[in-house]
Amino acid sequence: MATNRTFTMIKPDAVENGHIGGILDKINAAGFRIVAMKMTRLSTQKAGEFYAVHSARPFYGELVEFMSSGHIVAAILEKTNAVEDFRKLIGATNPANAEEGTIRKQYAESIGRNAVHGSDSDENAQIEGDFFFSGLEKF
Ligand code: CMP
Repeated sequence: MATNRTFTMIKPDAVENGHIGGILDKINAAGFRIVAMKMTRLSTQKAGEFYAVHSARPFYGELVEFMSSGHIVAAILEKTNAVEDFRKLIGATNPANAEEGTIRKQYAESIGRNAVHGSDSDENAQIEGDFFFSGLEKF
């Protein structure tokens, strides 16, 4: 049974390029409620921890360097079928394969600098949300 929450980050490329507002507009228009949100910056250590599941992949070093290179906006989002619907809204990991109307089609630059993160399962949505937010910060 799907839970109703997912976790997202607006990544350093999209923050630097002034796309926070445009991305939040699309998230709101798609019917997601923002349960928690903060702008912050990950240290290389924290970015490494967040993406530890990818530590054996060849792009891990590049991913950690990029995700700690600037500010990010982290948020927990609520909607029926949140994980799956949010992944549809953001589009394919590689923007070259993302469908028209998706966030990555509009804002992503490349597979590495791909504007947003979205959780891939209910279990990871919970883990990733807890990585950034305490119970007092979720509304
Ligand atoms: P994200 O959804 O945040 O989860 C893992 C990230 O790894 C992914 O988005 C991409 O930004 C990144 N990634 C995946 N494949 C590659 C790749 N081949 N080269 C660089 N980064 C990648």
